[in-house]
Amino acid sequence: MTGIATPLTRLLGIDRPVLLAGMAGGPTTPELVAAVSRAGGLGVFGVAGMQPDAVEAVVRAAVDMSGGAPVGVNVLISPEVPRGGADPARMDAVLSGLRGQMGLPHPPPPAPEPASPRELVEAGLAAGASVVATGLGDPSPIEGIAHAAGAMLIAMASTVGDAVRMVESGADAVVAQGAEAGGHRSNIEVPADAPVPLVGTLALVRQVVGAVEVPVVAAGGIMDGSGVAAALALGASGVQMGTAFLVTNEAGVPRGWRERLRDASDDETIITRSLSGRPARGLPNSVTRALDVPGALGWPRQNAATADIRRAAMAADDPEHMALWAGQAASLAGPDRPAGQVMDELMDEALTTMRRLGHMAPR
Ligand SMILES: Cc1cc2nc3c(=O)[nH]c(=O)nc-3n(C[C@H](O)[C@H](O)[C@H](O)COP(=O)(O)O)c2cc1C
Repeated sequence: MTGIATPLTRLLGIDRPVLLAGMAGGPTTPELVAAVSRAGGLGVFGVAGMQPDAVEAVVRAAVDMSGGAPVGVNVLISPEVPRGGADPARMDAVLSGLRGQMGLPHPPPPAPEPASPRELVEAGLAAGASVVATGLGDPSPIEGIAHAAGAMLIAMASTVGDAVRMVESGADAVVAQGAEAGGHRSNIEVPADAPVPLVGTLALVRQVVGAVEVPVVAAGGIMDGSGVAAALALGASGVQMGTAFLVTNEAGVPRGWRERLRDASDDETIITRSLSGRPARGLPNSVTRALDVPGALGWPRQNAATADIRRAAMAADDPEHMALWAGQAASLAGPDRPAGQVMDELMDEALTTMRRLGHMAPR
């Protein structure tokens, strides 16, 4: 297997400096996680929103299929994020309308009490995960259990200051999440109503590399081997990719979402709080337009309030009511293909790019 050795690959005991972003809500499956790990990267399961027994089952399945390669588990850690003007009655009326269009009951059947990040991490570790990854906020609440189990801790940050704080909280590596990234922004402090800072991947990675001593992983808009080579050129030790893996055969992503990714234009994604109460990047659709109204709730209440709609839309392949998380380079996703093939392409293209750059004649 052709690989590239970096401080990150040595830290994690992998051959290729590529992390599958844990993508909660369906995209990461045991098959996808295992395929990336078997192909020399690190497969990571996004388990936010799941119950511990389900986490144990899916992580165990991924570990069993990974052929002894390491597997990671990803949780989201965030304090409550309030929202000015939150109006539960008004939001309930909007949600009722959406459920009516989709033929869903209103109110939805009661959901089980959400598990804490700590309970989810414990379940993942019990099932054999050897890396714990976090998104959104400060990983302190799970640092102790990760390290006590001998697992590596990788925390994601979207500013230099937050990256420094992640390391102070015990992260063994940090993911520098640029503004291009699909999914939720990883700012520890989210102002109630003002926009969050958006620092591009190029600017963020270079500055995080200068600010921390641990390996830095670049994320946001990286879709191919040129992106991997660019990240390494900036001093990153590897990449974390989400959107590119959404079109793999093993991803739990319905056809309608895949098609929206391939058809997306560079300026089409939006940062919205409408689906979860925290800012996240994705493609606009009927549900973001309907929910982006005064009265919307903060995190995690808005996330819980929309969960049944997002879940039903995934099951029905209804892209107008899903959370279509996507990065700004989504249109580069390419055709559906096995994750192992994507991993091979990434390494071949990265090495070709690096050789090409090495042959550029100085003058
Ligand atoms: C569909 C989707 C779901 C995501 N879910 C999570 C998640 O559960 N936990 C997390 O830490 N990051 C999550 N992310 C963000 C990724 O960790 C990463 O920052 C992002 O995918 C990088 O940008 P890219 O999508 O352009 O590759 C998600 C991203 C996408 C696209």
